[in-house]
Amino acid sequence: MKNIFSRKRVLYVSAALLFCLPFGRAMAQTPAETARMNAYVSALMKKMTIDEKIGQLNLVTGGMAITGSVTNNGIGEGVKNGSIGGIFGLYGTSDVRKMQEAAVKGTRLHIPLIFGLDVIHGHRTIFPIPLGMSATWDLGLIEQSARIAAKEATAEGLNWVFSPMVDIARDARWGRISEGSGEDPYLGGKIAAAMVRGYQHNNLKAPDAVMACVKHFALYGGAEAGREYNTVDMSRLAMYNYYLPPYRAAVDAGAGSIMSSFNVVDGVPSTVNKWLLTDLLRKQWGFKGFVVSDYTSLNEVTEHGLGDLQTVSARAINAGLDMDMVGEGYLKTLKQSLQEKKISINDIDRACRLILEAKYKLGLFADPYKSIDPRREKTDIMTAENRAAARITAEHSFVLLKNDNQILPLKKSGGSIALVGPLADNKRDMLGTWVIGGEWEKSVSVMEGIKKVVGDNVKINYARGSNITDDTTFMKRLNFGPGMVWLDKQSPDEMIDDAVKAAKKSDIIVAVVGESQSMSGESSSRSDISIPESQQKMLKELAKLGKPMVLVLFNGRPLTLQWENDNAAAILDVWAPGTEAGNAIANVLFGNYNPSGKLTTTFPRSVGQIPLYYNHLNTGRPYTSGPTKFRSDYLDISNDPLYPFGYGLSYTKFSYSDIKLNKSVLVGNETLTASVTVSNTGKYAGEEVVQLYIKDPVASISRPVKELKDFKKIALQPGEQKTVTFNITTDKLKFYNSDLRYDWEPGEFVIEIGTNSATTGSTRVIWNK
Ligand code: NOJ
Repeated sequence: MKNIFSRKRVLYVSAALLFCLPFGRAMAQTPAETARMNAYVSALMKKMTIDEKIGQLNLVTGGMAITGSVTNNGIGEGVKNGSIGGIFGLYGTSDVRKMQEAAVKGTRLHIPLIFGLDVIHGHRTIFPIPLGMSATWDLGLIEQSARIAAKEATAEGLNWVFSPMVDIARDARWGRISEGSGEDPYLGGKIAAAMVRGYQHNNLKAPDAVMACVKHFALYGGAEAGREYNTVDMSRLAMYNYYLPPYRAAVDAGAGSIMSSFNVVDGVPSTVNKWLLTDLLRKQWGFKGFVVSDYTSLNEVTEHGLGDLQTVSARAINAGLDMDMVGEGYLKTLKQSLQEKKISINDIDRACRLILEAKYKLGLFADPYKSIDPRREKTDIMTAENRAAARITAEHSFVLLKNDNQILPLKKSGGSIALVGPLADNKRDMLGTWVIGGEWEKSVSVMEGIKKVVGDNVKINYARGSNITDDTTFMKRLNFGPGMVWLDKQSPDEMIDDAVKAAKKSDIIVAVVGESQSMSGESSSRSDISIPESQQKMLKELAKLGKPMVLVLFNGRPLTLQWENDNAAAILDVWAPGTEAGNAIANVLFGNYNPSGKLTTTFPRSVGQIPLYYNHLNTGRPYTSGPTKFRSDYLDISNDPLYPFGYGLSYTKFSYSDIKLNKSVLVGNETLTASVTVSNTGKYAGEEVVQLYIKDPVASISRPVKELKDFKKIALQPGEQKTVTFNITTDKLKFYNSDLRYDWEPGEFVIEIGTNSATTGSTRVIWNK
């Protein structure tokens, strides 16, 4: 198949992007620019009334994107009277221009608005859901996805995106695990920084750059029992060592804004948590941007039990929350709190200044209409290049979980395929969660993709085979938008019969099954994370035929797949691949691209094992396989996951040499080099993610059994081999100890390199201070 946007070109673009960017902290403003900004904002603030300052702290929704019960009415009036600082959920150059003109021409001081949106994995051209994108382990592709999203978002007048979502998640029941990069702090941090670079482009003034908003600060992914919006209760050690690093990485990459989370941190809701928003974020990390609440999370502090709206709003402004999303707590109460001396003008000034600075950094004072260009709206959205990049990213995100007897790739000509399942001839569910600008009608179904690749050379026998679910109560929860999940006119039994008939006529079964769009994402926790029963029934009937069955699995989270693993010949996990879903899936099924994705989240055997993650502590009685009493295990199941972190197969085979070290005893700031030679011993060209893990077996606190410390993705032709070298400095040995001091402790270290977290070669070094 001809690639309109070849992989080579994409690599070129992403490498170019990487090289022109500085490493570490994003290039800050020059001192002269900062001085100009300060002078400008100070002069403006001198002219502002208290009401005008408070107005800047008020973020309203334009109504297109609602994730709570409250909407703001009459925003046009609010814009004109200066009681609104920004709008989110409104896009399209004509609507944005109207509002911006109302603000700039209608208000006394002509202060422009900031326009935000939940652009999470692409704006119009939808990329794989973030969990899928993380499975590429390809920072260049990830950065490029954010760059393209920024270009499309700005082409519709936006200048602020509520992304990246960097919450570490160890609980697959939580629906929002789909929106992040999985369970690992190191990889999560790298991805967070790549996305910030992609969005902000190291130049917020550029007409195609948007300000990133890192979320949800903090620890939102640690919700007890994976239940949405639930309590988080976590030690400082767990916070600092495992959950906070990705937020920190995004801040260090120069993210312009950050969103507080719904949950409590140490018993205090994040939105009013002074330790979190001021001591940690600003004083320890040096964050210079502004903090926005989540959707009505300020009002919800009342529900958390901390007092009425005036009390919690006063507490929030004092804690370091700068902007209030939707709930109007600031708008309605701050002036009164000031008059009653419950807050100081300094707090309002701080928040107002940070928001005005953000607008200044975005270049909105210089040109409030800078991205409102109807021409770009016509030319820059859903271009062939953008779609091609989305397809390539999707191909790289798929994880081959099983492939018995090399059943994949399928032959492009000859024979017949039964294409079955509720996601096979389906466009809507291709996009996944959080696709406000996404137009599902423009996505490519699996059926369309397959037909494009095989034409008439393979006979396709299609049957829907089952509903997404037959459970109408569950369906109601899933249908928060019209027509998302629906019941077929045929009965479930008739549908299964059709699928069996199609399978009988065919050589191979390709069943496209799993979760629909609304089964993951916000407010989509599940206590049972298996494929819905209606689809399982169909699979079980098909399995009885004894024909090879390939599962194409859609999922916004790890699923429990023991039966599927035991009965399907192959499983290709495609997450929710986005606009180009069908093309990407067909390319991989038929071998135009050899899958290279690796899991960034552990797949449990049973929901009862959750939370299950690879970088766990050893415990005093670690698990040993076999029926041993009094160990940290279960009576009825092993501790092992079904598929471990870092796992993913290829159509080819890679073999690893032993690890070679430059030395086995080191002192102080020396560098250890650890190398392996990886050979492609199979028949296909392929890519492999070579993973470095380190264990610190003796320390002042209990340390994880291993931690990812580096990785490299390499491409190998059949028969080719490459040596991969990791340079290890003491930075990779550091952790936060009981005093929350970040340092390394001398002694022995285990160095592991391998193809996934459970399959590694290993060697030891001594590292003295
Ligand atoms: C609530 C979600 O938690 C957050 O991620 C999102 O950005 C806001 N709603 C705005 O839609």
